[in-house]
Amino acid sequence: MPDDIKQRMENLRQLIRHHTYLYHVLDAPETSDAEFDALMTRLRQLEEAHPELATPDSPTQRVGGQVQAQFNKVSHPAPILSLSNAFIADDVRAWHERILRLLPAGTRLQFVVEPKIDGLTVILRYEDGLFVLGATRGNGEVGEDITLNLRTVQSVPLRIPVHASALSAPRRLVVRGEAYMPIRDFETLNRSQEEKGQKTFANPRNAAAGSLRQLDTSITASRPLRLFTYAVVTSEGAELLTQWEVLQYLKSMGFSVNPDMALFDDIEEAIAYSEQWMEKRGTLPYEVDGVVIKVNDLATQNSLGIVGKDPRAKIAFKFPAREATTRLKEMGINVGRTGTLNPFAILEPVELGGVTIERATLHNFEDIARKDIRIGDMVIIKRAGDVIPQVEKPLVQLRTGEEQVITIPKSCPACGKPAVKPEGEVAVYCVNPSCPAQTVQRIAHWASTMDIEGFGERLAQSFVDHGLLHDLADLYYLTRKDVLKLPGLADRSTDNLLAAVEASKERPLSRLIAALGIRGVGTTIAQMLAQHFSSVPELASASTEALEGIPGLGPIIAANIVAFFANERNRRLVDKLQRAGVKMGRKIEPKAEASPLASKTFVITGTLPTWTREEAKQTIEAHGGKVSSTVSKKTSYLLLGENPGSKYDKARNLDIPIVDEAQLREMVAGNPGAEAVTQLGFDA
Ligand code: IVH
Repeated sequence: MPDDIKQRMENLRQLIRHHTYLYHVLDAPETSDAEFDALMTRLRQLEEAHPELATPDSPTQRVGGQVQAQFNKVSHPAPILSLSNAFIADDVRAWHERILRLLPAGTRLQFVVEPKIDGLTVILRYEDGLFVLGATRGNGEVGEDITLNLRTVQSVPLRIPVHASALSAPRRLVVRGEAYMPIRDFETLNRSQEEKGQKTFANPRNAAAGSLRQLDTSITASRPLRLFTYAVVTSEGAELLTQWEVLQYLKSMGFSVNPDMALFDDIEEAIAYSEQWMEKRGTLPYEVDGVVIKVNDLATQNSLGIVGKDPRAKIAFKFPAREATTRLKEMGINVGRTGTLNPFAILEPVELGGVTIERATLHNFEDIARKDIRIGDMVIIKRAGDVIPQVEKPLVQLRTGEEQVITIPKSCPACGKPAVKPEGEVAVYCVNPSCPAQTVQRIAHWASTMDIEGFGERLAQSFVDHGLLHDLADLYYLTRKDVLKLPGLADRSTDNLLAAVEASKERPLSRLIAALGIRGVGTTIAQMLAQHFSSVPELASASTEALEGIPGLGPIIAANIVAFFANERNRRLVDKLQRAGVKMGRKIEPKAEASPLASKTFVITGTLPTWTREEAKQTIEAHGGKVSSTVSKKTSYLLLGENPGSKYDKARNLDIPIVDEAQLREMVAGNPGAEAVTQLGFDA
């Protein structure tokens, strides 16, 4: 019987590994998220029931949750070298001639061209197919041990080969790769960091590096990191003769290898291919700062040797920087949906990476003051990938004395009402709740969060301008006749629009909460709130204390929520939405009843990896459990942390089930009370 179970568990792991590979390496998923989750849940259950059959390379072991005191140092098996640079095609040609002179006359070289990903170099060690060590480059000889962090990255295989049918595992394999964050994900991360009042990252590379070097691996696990591998540092049990073979080998083992790598018989072809990428760099979903051109034959690579830290057989052909200099003519201000006044620069048009730039963000007034950016300044503009162009810094030496210092506006440029800068906040706000610019943004935000297809900012503006919408709830009171009054909306699009508005009445609670546009409450926080409250009216009557008691919710956001619903206007808005038939949440709140924690008593001992005792207590209580300070026969579970006290021995003597923080999280996550139960009208 256990053999049978062991086999079933192995099959499940294999299946999950396969789907993880399809999803995170090939970007070609074959299952739905729900199916995948079901496989994971099944495996987790089996591993919990048979802990002796759990394995370190199991996909369940990626979750993170460990907190490290520091990163240990690791020595690399061979120095991790860097590259010399070429900036124009002639630099590459000169390099080619230099190396030809060092090789026997008549040598014909092949070249591999690889996009140069702008991320963080990582070194991964596998022994008998198992991922045993992951490290940063460090100074090239000694790096930092970030194994636990890398385990949370889905495209890092925990076991190779990923596919059971492929070759056998090499005895020992050390590979080099680049961990990176796709540009889209970087932008989303920055937005959510900003929402939470946390630090944002200057570019995807910093975001990747910052995310990997987290002592708390659950932070790493929550970040959208990926990996491309491109080199074998050492191998035992794999005979590899060329770089092209290396890449094929890495692929066959299940590593993610960049699809745009190419092999050439001629340096001019390699240069032409590189230059194509220079043009197309903006189309890639990740940041590249150039290409790497490598001599294909590994023996030739070796014979060419190293100059300083740079192997002669490889060269980085860097793309031109995405920076330009121009004059800042004027400052404009956008009004955001929460009333934030967002300054932007109006520029003398300038070419940058193939497009003409006329506007760039100035972030906020603190940033302007810190960088001392003035109107009339010559400034450096930066643009990275699809990221919005930004004003990097002024060229102070070029000042004429005519430049004007930028001051914080005293009034809103859209409605003329006073602007204020709350103590301790970076942003400056327009405090007029009926400011038309804010209304447009709020409606557009509502429409995009509630998935009202075809209703963007432009339409919102037009509806507000025509006096058809005064607040977002007006959307649900629009008639066909109203909409047809607008220029440019034909019968068909009117019907589609009204149908989309109607359909949006049925969205889940978390969407609704996020769509309200409460300051600091984005999708993540909204999801948390939807687990603790069953409807918008229930959230609206929550006290500051109750909100602050939710693990992960800070006092600022709690205060924002209370302030939002304390506002008479917002209360009326919620009423108006409800009267229009917008579903306000779940009908029943099955939380306490259905929770596996309901009426269970927990005792906590030791230091938990991420929660404080208080947070653990609140989580348990929020799901219907109780916390007691002494172990007795009535104790249902001991929640065990690092360096436990005598409660641990006592619990063991009494045979009390023991869980750790991760298991408790799972118990809570599996709680149907916390899931989206059928969405029924609040007052149904
Ligand atoms: S080869 C011995 N190939 O670029 C040289 N590097 O400036 C090994 N990089 O530190 C590097 N993509 O972080 C190589 N396909 C690629 C690369 C790549 C990105 C990074 C890597 C390296 C830096 C060199």
